[in-house]
Amino acid sequence: MTDSLILELKGLRAGYGEIQVLWGIDLAAHRGEITALVGSNGAGKTTLMRALSGLIPIQGGHYISEGRDLTDDSAAEILAHGIVHVPEGRRLFGAMSVEDNLLMGAYARKARSAELRRDLDRVYATFPKLRERRSQAAATLSGGEQQMCAIGRGLMSAPRLLMIDELSLGLSPLLVEQLVAALKSLNAGGMSILLIEQDVTIALDLCHRAFVMDMGRVVRSGAGEELLADPVIRDAYLGVLQE
Ligand SMILES: Nc1ncnc2c1ncn2[C@@H]1O[C@H](COP(=O)(O)OP(=O)(O)OP(=O)(O)O)[C@@H](O)[C@H]1O
Ligand SMILES: [Mg+2]
Repeated sequence: MTDSLILELKGLRAGYGEIQVLWGIDLAAHRGEITALVGSNGAGKTTLMRALSGLIPIQGGHYISEGRDLTDDSAAEILAHGIVHVPEGRRLFGAMSVEDNLLMGAYARKARSAELRRDLDRVYATFPKLRERRSQAAATLSGGEQQMCAIGRGLMSAPRLLMIDELSLGLSPLLVEQLVAALKSLNAGGMSILLIEQDVTIALDLCHRAFVMDMGRVVRSGAGEELLADPVIRDAYLGVLQE
C-alpha cells in the first residue's frame, strides 16, 4: 500500500448483474500525474470508471486511493474522498444556467460561500468562456463549452482525482486543443487526472502513463511516449495515423 498512489487497483472485478466485464484489473496511478485508459470499443474503460465512482458494485479485488480502502464504499463516500467522475455525454442540467450547473458540483460539499466563490473563480480562470456565459442555459452552449462546463462542475467537487470519460468526442480540433491545454494547466497545478480518450495519439501524448485495456483486462502499460513508439500499439490502435 503506497500513499502516493491516487489509484491502486488489484484484481478488480465488476460488471452488470450476471454480466462480468472487468476480469481482474491491476493498475497503479500516481498522484499528480495524468493517467490514460485506452483500448478498443467495449474494452471496459467506462465500466472501470463507473466501478471507481461507485455507480456499479465492485465484485472482487481491491480499490485503494492514497492508502484508503474504497472497495466497499458507496458513491457518496467515494465522492467525499475526492474521486470525481465527469461522465461521457456531459450530463448537464440543460435548463439551468452555467453557474448553477457548476454549483451543482459542490452540492455535496459543506463549503462556505467564500470558498465556493474562490473555486468558481478558479473554474472561470481555467475556462474563461464559462465566465462569459455564466447566466446562459447550459443547453445553449456549444459542444466544447458543454464539455468545459462538465469538467468545471467536476472541479467544483474538489477532486483529488478527476476522471474524464471521452474528452474529445465530437469536438473540433481547435476545441480539443483548448481542452488539452486546460488539462495540462490543471495538472501543472497538481491535479491528478484519469482520462479515457478515444484518440490514442492525444491520450498518449498528454499522459504520463497509460494502461491499455482489452476485453476487461489490462494488456499493456507504460509511459505515454513509450507506448506511442511501440510498433504493436501503433499497429493495433493507431492504424491509419501511422506515417
Ligand atoms: N449497462 C450495461 N449492461 C450490460 N452490459 C453493459 C452495460 N454497459 C456496458 N456493458 C458492456 O460492458 C462491456 C464494456 O463496455 P464499456 O462501455 O465499459 O466499454 P468502453 O471501453 O468504455 O468502450 P467505448 O470505447 O465504446 O466507450 C461491453 O461489452 C458492453 O456491452
Ligand atoms: Mg466508454
